[in-house]
Amino acid sequence: MIEKLNEIRRQLTELLAKEDVDEKTLEELRIRFLGKKGELTAVLRGMGSLPPEERPKVGQYANELREEFERMLEEKGAALRERARQEKLERERIDVTAPGRTPKIGRRHPLESTRIEMCEIFRSMGFDIVEGPEVEYAYYNFDALNTPENHPSRDLTDTFYITENILLRTQTSPVQVRTMEQRKPPIKIVAPGRVYRSDEVDATHSPLFHQLEGLVVDKHITMGDLKGVLELFAQKMFGPGSRIRFRPHHFPFTEPSAEVDVSCFVCGGKGCRVCKGEGWIEILGSGVVHPNVLRAGGIDPNIYSGFAFGMGIERIAMIRYGIDDMRLLYENDIRFLAQF
Ligand code: DAH
Repeated sequence: MIEKLNEIRRQLTELLAKEDVDEKTLEELRIRFLGKKGELTAVLRGMGSLPPEERPKVGQYANELREEFERMLEEKGAALRERARQEKLERERIDVTAPGRTPKIGRRHPLESTRIEMCEIFRSMGFDIVEGPEVEYAYYNFDALNTPENHPSRDLTDTFYITENILLRTQTSPVQVRTMEQRKPPIKIVAPGRVYRSDEVDATHSPLFHQLEGLVVDKHITMGDLKGVLELFAQKMFGPGSRIRFRPHHFPFTEPSAEVDVSCFVCGGKGCRVCKGEGWIEILGSGVVHPNVLRAGGIDPNIYSGFAFGMGIERIAMIRYGIDDMRLLYENDIRFLAQF
């Protein structure tokens, strides 16, 4: 019987040594040699025919063999798994020293970075940033801003009307009265956003563009405060050497009113191609808030005064980056945008 057990052992050893043993054949061998109907069990079943004194010896040997078989199968299994792992590593080998492919990262649109920078400058001076609706009542866009019925800006050909009373705002100035309705002085806000005018597209016009409105209301606010704020803004936006100049103008919602120019950042005021020989570039409209506008906002003009300004963000971006055609800002040509 010992003979027979040794024969089984020899068989298993031989089979395991074969080249083509894989996980599947390993499992088959396990069943064939160690299973309930396997070779080892079959031998043990025949133990009954042995003389009683031999049984313990054979039984012990059979048990030793069982353990040995299990170990052999286990070792073979481990070897197979290790080989598979090595093959996988080899297959998936990567060269970590190879130069990488730089991922393409997008960047901010120059108009957006300009808006952010403008807001940051005013924030540093203590202004809050607020917003108003782009679809606006004619009341806030015109009437509350002291704009007479017959004012040219109300013309149907200049303004996108939705109904007689509702329109796409033509300026960010309506945010002035909306803010006064919601806050008590001191008020110190800027309001960036889109505005709409029925203009043909060309190098300096677009039916949709962006403005940044500013409003300060408190006791004793004067034109001097306006000048100080705008001067600081110009220096932070266009460099410490920048100067500004005020030109008298007319807006219904301010009195007095002024247009403001900044000294050309390219030639410093001598006159060049960018400023068209002027030395100055117009950047905004401004003035001392008209008493009627304060009243429309529920603020007593005998106690409070204020200043306001509105500037085009495209205009600022174009000056800032030396862009000579506004359309470039809207066409989303990657070759253009990648330069900023
Ligand atoms: N809203 C004016 C425009 O669109 C710009 C402007 C001028 C805004 C004077 C103001 C201001 O707040 O006081 O042309």
